[in-house]
Parts: sequence; C-alpha cells; structure tokens
Amino acid sequence: MSKQQQILDRLGIPDLQPGACFGPGQWSTPSADRAFEAINSANGQVIGRISAATEADYDRVITVAQEAAEAWKMIPAPVRGEAVRRVTDALRDYKDPLGSLVALEMGKIKPEGDGEVQEMIDIGDFALGQSRMLYGKTMHSERPGHRMYEQWHPLGVVGVVTAFNFPVAVWAWNALLSAICGNATVWKPSPKGALCCAAVQNIVNEALADTDYPPVFTSFMESGHELAGRFIDDERVALMSFTGSSQVGRMVGERVARRFGKSLLELGGNNAIILDPTADLKIAIPGIVFGAVGTAGQRCTSTRRLIVHESIADDVSDTLVKAYQQVRIGDPLEPGTLMGPLTDAAAVERFEQAVARARQAGGEVLTGGKRIEGEGFFVEPTIIRAENHWDIVQEETFAPILYVIRYKTLEEALQLHNDVRQGLSSAIFTTDLRSAEYYLSHRGSDCGIANVNIGTSGAEIGGAFGGEKETGGGRESGSDAWKAYMRRQTNTINWSTELPLAQGIKFGL
Ligand code: UN1
Repeated sequence: MSKQQQILDRLGIPDLQPGACFGPGQWSTPSADRAFEAINSANGQVIGRISAATEADYDRVITVAQEAAEAWKMIPAPVRGEAVRRVTDALRDYKDPLGSLVALEMGKIKPEGDGEVQEMIDIGDFALGQSRMLYGKTMHSERPGHRMYEQWHPLGVVGVVTAFNFPVAVWAWNALLSAICGNATVWKPSPKGALCCAAVQNIVNEALADTDYPPVFTSFMESGHELAGRFIDDERVALMSFTGSSQVGRMVGERVARRFGKSLLELGGNNAIILDPTADLKIAIPGIVFGAVGTAGQRCTSTRRLIVHESIADDVSDTLVKAYQQVRIGDPLEPGTLMGPLTDAAAVERFEQAVARARQAGGEVLTGGKRIEGEGFFVEPTIIRAENHWDIVQEETFAPILYVIRYKTLEEALQLHNDVRQGLSSAIFTTDLRSAEYYLSHRGSDCGIANVNIGTSGAEIGGAFGGEKETGGGRESGSDAWKAYMRRQTNTINWSTELPLAQGIKFGL
C-alpha cells in the first residue's frame, strides 16, 4: 500500500469523502456528481475526491449547530473543558498521521505539518485550563447597597472559515476556545484543505462518540463560494471568524457588519524584520531564512521584507544567498526537505508576476526568481533588492520572496517598516537595548505581533494572535482572545431598601 493510502486509511478518509458532517457518525450522502478533487501540490496528482455539500446539507449543519448550542450552553464550562480534553487527547494519538496529511494536502514539510498539529494540542490544553477561568470583573457601584459585576455568556453558533495554509491549527484555535465558551462551531475549510477538515472531523467524532455531548463541532465543504456566501450572511451565525486575504476579508467584514453580526478577521500580513548593525547574525540569519522560506512563504506571518542597515546590507545579502542555495526543495514528506511546493499553478503564476513586477520597478534578483520545471508547483526561494514604496513590495504575495531594503537610521527603518497597509507580525534583531525598546514602544512597530531577536513567524499559541490595519484587527488563540467568543453582560444588583439613581439624579413623585 502506498504511503499516501496509509495516511488516508489511518485517518478514515474514503475514496469519495462526504462534504458535510452533522455530528459523530452523521455525514452527508456523497455523490460523485458533486465531487471536487484534492491535489498533491508536490506532483499534481489527485489525492482524493470530496462530494461538495448541498444547500440542504448546509441548512442541516446550521440547524444541528443551533440545537447543539442551546444544549451545550447549559453544560458547565469546566465540563465543556472535559470534552475538549478528549479531543486534545485524540489529537495527540493522531499527531503523526494528521501531520503527514497536512504535508500531503497542503505541501508544507512534515515537521511543519506536525508542528501545526502540536499547535492544536497546545490550544486544546490551553482551552481546558481556560474553561475554569472565564472571569468577569466586579466593580464598585457609586450607589449605596449596590453591587456591579460583569459576566460572559455564550454567543450561540460560531462560524469558522479557514485558509489552505494552516488547514487544521486555525480551526483548533477558534473551535476549541469557542467550545469552552459554550458555542457550537461550524467549520468551512478552504477547498484545498478539505481532506484535513475531514480528518479532524473524524478525530473529533471518535473522541466524542461515546458521550452525551451535543454535536458542537460540525463542518461543510464546497469547491466554490456559494454556501460560503450564505454562511457569511446567515443571521443564525453570531460570530464569523475568517482567515484569508485582506481583499476577501474586507467583503466578509462588511457583510457580517450589515447584519450586526460579530466578525473576527485574520487577514494579510506584510511582515518585516529590521536588522540593525548590532544584530547577532548567528541567530538573525536562521530567523530570516525560516521566516521567508518556511512553508514556502505561505504563512500569513512569513517574512516578506528585510530592512537592513546599509553598513551590513551587502554582507548579510551574501550570507543569505549562500544559505538559500543550501535549502533542500522537494517532496514535503521526504526527511531533509526544507521547502515544499506552492499550493497550485495559480500561485506559481503570482510568484512569477511578482518577480517580474519587482524587476520592472528596478529590483535586482540576488537569488532565485524562477519556477522549477517538472511536476508539482515548485519555485526557487527568492531574494530581491527592492524599495519599500514599490507597489509589489506593498502587496502580500504568498510565495518565498524576500525584499531587501536598506536604511540609515532606526527612525527611517521604522518609517519603512510601518509604511505598508498590513500590520500582522514584525521583528527586530538587535543587541542594543535602546533600539529594542524604541521598536517595542508606541513609536515603534505598529503590528499586532512585535518580536525581538526572533523572526516574524511561528508564534506560540499562548499569546493573542492577529494584527492591525488591513490585517483586520482580530485576535485569536491565547491571552484573553476567548472573549471574542462570548458576549459581555454588565449586571447591577440593588440589595438595599432604597432606589437611589445613578449620577445623583432625584426623580421624586
Ligand atoms: C497563518 O499563517 O495563518 O505564527 C497562521 C505562525 C503560526 C500561525 C500562522 N503559529 O506562523
């Protein structure tokens, strides 16, 4: 049996995968007429077929989720945490095959696929603890004999739309927190992550099969956007958590706002590393290479710009070019591979267009710049000497292209750094305390994530994850991001025998 078949079998994925799940053991009836294909981007071959959900399947998923949310919110939060613990334990058991499927379907290398599953496990553990810590504040009332406090209530149905590049972890950040908060979560994966969705759904179903918990984790899949459009506009979905491009996210945010729904947007990044003259290059170079080349530049946190002091720019560029030439490109499941393919042929075209546009603007390609001929969607990791204001540098191209930009003063570096429309992740490599603190201050990086002496990608789950400006403003994962999945209620209780009004108002009859 092929390695591919072993992975699919281990995760319970049939030849024709049903495209909607209504709870443990409850899948839609598949039909070959509605099937779309999952493609291995390393060789262009078909991995599996998925029977897209129908309108009726969609309606059933939402109805099931509504009913599940009603029952689930009556279960104490720490008991909900116990359900999440079961899911997390099952993820531990399936880490290896699920990490392999992520590598197979998405194209990231196996250690990164495993790392993604580890993020799911980590957020599961986090959510379990958080289930006993859904704290509200108490306030001192200005009125005698009164008490004020706030509490957090579940929202109901939460929608999660995930992108191809993190096909399993982003669901977990959302769904596992959403679950302990008392919601039912409906997942719509990217069509390029459909098998990963099916595998996670199977793991969840197995973990919860012999329990009485309501089906709070459901999903539907499609290859186009029809049902996604209904999902976004659906008043039954209280919160829509969307990960994807700024362009689509803007539309999602507008449409959800029109119906006064809540949205949580995780959109594009244009992440930079500032390299100052005091930087320790021993750690800076691997930090830059991992940030720019890791996941073939297809993370929203990938390093896209290197803002380097002019005194070290030539040396650093030479060192990076040498490091890039060592990067092993190939089958993501092969041990030793450092960079897999891009997701599809269109992504390769966008890579080529970006390189051409950078060249046209006057960019000098220091290494890479070309697609790799042969099967699969491979490109060369690329470094281009560029200027920050060029249109192409201002855009997020989901590919391993690093633009190198020079600066003279830290003030100038920060100006260049912040002079993009996106605001997700950022980093400085420096051993100078003043530079580090300046960069972290409110005069420094304007991003949601700002790091010192580590790169832009690979955030831990314990912090709040997300960014400013066209990145959308949402925060997921750790810290107090759980609050996005609940509604806040302020309560004032009068335990006196009088009715004093606030603001000292007298309203006597
Ligand atoms: C994404 O690319 O959508 O910080 C998420 C990181 C990962 C998550 C990236 N923990 O790179």
